[in-house]
Amino acid sequence: MFLFQENEIILEVGATSRQDGSTLFLAAHGPEFHTIDIDPDVIGELSVYTNITAWLGDAVYVLKTWKHTHFIPRIGFAWLDGWDWPYEVLEGPTLDAYRQVYGKRGQELTEKESARSHLESAKLIFPLMASDGLIVIDDTWYDDTLTWHGKGETAIPWLLKQRCQLMDATGPARVVTNGFTCVKVER
Ligand SMILES: C[S@@+](CC[C@H](N)C(=O)[O-])C[C@H]1O[C@@H](n2cnc3c(N)ncnc32)[C@H](O)[C@@H]1O
Repeated sequence: MFLFQENEIILEVGATSRQDGSTLFLAAHGPEFHTIDIDPDVIGELSVYTNITAWLGDAVYVLKTWKHTHFIPRIGFAWLDGWDWPYEVLEGPTLDAYRQVYGKRGQELTEKESARSHLESAKLIFPLMASDGLIVIDDTWYDDTLTWHGKGETAIPWLLKQRCQLMDATGPARVVTNGFTCVKVER
């Protein structure tokens, strides 16, 4: 179980209005809840929930604007699940459809861009994290040479260099499409 201190928030990057998705789950299980998504439809669908503060825009852009608007939250738990990772198992029409959606927004659905977005987001979120706060990056795993892959493939090594502690990670034995990696911020 994870206990929050007073005034800590939960932050999500990459939302969904699905009943079985992370957004409604996190909003129901914690303190003040904020989520960021670049898709206006997703943000619009969440507007009926009064316990969700939903920010529309590119995560890196939105996080940068917080500084200027003096919104400086203390984040107890961050779930990073934004810019999608183009899984090889999605080859074919599914991946093409995703690419079109991303392309229309001026985004490239590539491994490099997915990792860059999560690294930049992690760098902006890290100073806002509470001591002992957890950062979890979805779709992130390591292989048998201990190389990181997925959305957090550059963010996780960066966070570990900031002396974050590795709490849980998907390794070579597990199915990669539902992998995640969790670190604890230690100050
Ligand atoms: C995998 S879905 C999120 C799923 C949800 N977190 C869950 O676990 O149920 C990824 C979301 O990230 C959003 N996204 C993609 N690029 C983004 C970016 N640059 N900034 C913010 N959100 C982004 C997409 O619009 C999409 O809604």
